[in-house]
Amino acid sequence: ASSRSSVATTLVDRVQTLVSENKKAILIGTAAAAAIAVGGVAYYASTSSSRGTGSPTTDLEKGEKKDRKSKKKKKGVNDTDGPILEERKAKVENDEDDLSKYSPEVVAALTEEVSPTNERSRIAGLFKAKGNAAYKARDYAAAAKLYSSAIESSPTAEPVFYSNRAACYMNMVPPQYELVVQDCNEAIKLDSSYVKALNRRAMAFEALEQYSEALRDYTATTVLEKFANQATPRAVDRVLKTMSTKNAQEILKNRGPRLPPATFISAYFAAFRQRDLPVLPENPSEGDQKLMESFKALEEHDYNRSLELINDALNQSVSWDVGKSEALNLRGTYKFLLGDVEGAKNDLNESIKLVPSFTQSLVKIASVYMEQGEPDKAFDCFEEAIQHNREDPDIYYHRGQVLFIMNNFDDAAKNYTKSTELDDDFVFTHIQLAVAQYKAGNVANAMAQFRRTMKAFPQRSEPLNYYGELLLDQQRYQDAIEKFDKAIEIEKLNPQNVLALVNKGLTLFQMDQNIGAAERCCHEALRIDPECEAAVATLAQLSLQQGLVDAAVKYFERSAELARTEQELAGALTYQYATNAQIEFAKNYPQLASQMNAMARSL
Ligand SMILES: *[C@@H]1O[C@H](CO)[C@@H](O)[C@H](O)[C@H]1NC(C)=O
Ligand SMILES: *[C@@H]1O[C@H](CO)[C@@H](O)[C@H](O)[C@H]1NC(C)=O
Ligand SMILES: *[C@@H]1O[C@H](CO)[C@@H](O)[C@H](O)[C@H]1NC(C)=O
Ligand SMILES: *[C@@H]1O[C@H](CO)[C@@H](O)[C@H](O)[C@H]1NC(C)=O
Ligand SMILES: *[C@@H]1O[C@H](CO)[C@@H](O)[C@H](O)[C@H]1NC(C)=O
Repeated sequence: ASSRSSVATTLVDRVQTLVSENKKAILIGTAAAAAIAVGGVAYYASTSSSRGTGSPTTDLEKGEKKDRKSKKKKKGVNDTDGPILEERKAKVENDEDDLSKYSPEVVAALTEEVSPTNERSRIAGLFKAKGNAAYKARDYAAAAKLYSSAIESSPTAEPVFYSNRAACYMNMVPPQYELVVQDCNEAIKLDSSYVKALNRRAMAFEALEQYSEALRDYTATTVLEKFANQATPRAVDRVLKTMSTKNAQEILKNRGPRLPPATFISAYFAAFRQRDLPVLPENPSEGDQKLMESFKALEEHDYNRSLELINDALNQSVSWDVGKSEALNLRGTYKFLLGDVEGAKNDLNESIKLVPSFTQSLVKIASVYMEQGEPDKAFDCFEEAIQHNREDPDIYYHRGQVLFIMNNFDDAAKNYTKSTELDDDFVFTHIQLAVAQYKAGNVANAMAQFRRTMKAFPQRSEPLNYYGELLLDQQRYQDAIEKFDKAIEIEKLNPQNVLALVNKGLTLFQMDQNIGAAERCCHEALRIDPECEAAVATLAQLSLQQGLVDAAVKYFERSAELARTEQELAGALTYQYATNAQIEFAKNYPQLASQMNAMARSL
């Protein structure tokens, strides 16, 4: 989790857990939709999403460990699903026939005229049997040649010959993955439900880092095996994870620095108390003027302009220390939002050096450390900030946030309380205190704290919205909707925060599966704030629920566009790829689509 796990993420977490909470409901809902089956989407996605609840990840790691162990048992054999296991028909014929007289040239010349069909079948069978023996003896090169002879002498194309030869290529040192793919292509062309060939091709594609193809084949294998084999769903998870992480990194690299959605930026700025603007010196320089203009643009939520102006201001130089410290703080904040963590730390560090009592810069350095997953360093920053100015309520609020993220709700509550003692005018401290109490199990205290907060801040929508979330969590749907409606009314005066709308949609959905009403709420939210990530994520899940997979994919793509961090982006891509793989399955195996639904129902 990142430092923004301020109140703003409570909801996003909620959307993410929607899938796992309603896994069964979603699968059943999907099964009811006849057109295209997406049975396993929610199942896969919820166990592999990096944004999930955490436990699936540990399952996954355990799975990988088990894989490694079983690999050891194979003693260097890459593909134990060799031909031996496939020998279901006759045992090796105890034939006197000397295969050596069938040289490649002779085999090539075996036509109907030279040799009748049943004779050629017999010869092919002999080659295969000998190939199996060579395979068993781990002489993979010899086995591959024998299967080639089987292929050439056989009057009909036999998928098993190709699949067996692929097993040889798989086990050669080094493995011949391209040849594995070629042979599996042949086998699958002849028998589209040939699980071993599909699985083998998936492994080869994975090794070749052709992840989309690997995912497609593992998905097909999983469904064809009716989810019975533990290894293939794990392979799906593994490939999804690798693919999403890799592509997320690539996308972020190519995307270049850009500011996150405006709602995110305003939520970040709103997490700090408003302060008076610095007072311009007598004869302000051009840089000084630019600084003030940048603050003005910030106030107007014109962040791109504000960023441009602050760069100009510092480039042209700000003439007095307090102003320069403010300017560095602001530029450092933008650098943080742009993902330039080192640059952010430098600016913020310079800022605090110029005006040591300007502890906000230190608190922001702490949030940079949290983004980098270094809570210890973040705590050091808070300590240092307290040394500089122990009366700064922001320090305790943000330390509370870090403790909250780390699930230390008791200490978090203490820090929120301390912050409120210093200044009780900041609505988020009150809300977070209530949520921390709730998470710590003090439900009655939390509800009372919320009621006090709603009374103290009647003009704010946030207490209503987050109180509504607790009610939703307790399945008090009507009460929740009433709070969300009030929050929506307040936001209508100055529409910024659309979370209450999305929450209302979620409630309508959970209350009586009213998908249409839930969707209308989300669309309304997006009309006001086209970059509302929570609305997009919810719409994606609601689409899946109805089996509208193409629509779901579009929303996942949009989620990916809006994602800020690599983790968020990888999460969105995971859903997108899992859905696509299953759309493809339904296309390739239309006859099995309904079967996939039936399986989904019993999961
Ligand atoms: C197959 O074996 C080779 C060498 O024995 C090894 O380098 C490779 O990683 C193995 N591949 C798989 C998919 O296990
Ligand atoms: C800021 O500029 C980027 C392109 O540089 C654009 O994509 C984005 O929409 C702009 N944001 C705002 C709030 O205008
Ligand atoms: C600062 O100004 C110089 C030259 O005037 C320019 O090359 C540079 O890009 C500017 N830097 C920023 C961050 O605007
Ligand atoms: C800030 O600068 C000082 C030296 O001036 C350095 O010791 C310290 O590590 C820096 N802090 C950060 C967070 O970069
Ligand atoms: C705040 O959290 C820290 C742990 O980081 C804890 O030691 C302290 O007691 C808490 N309370 C206050 C009032 O700071």
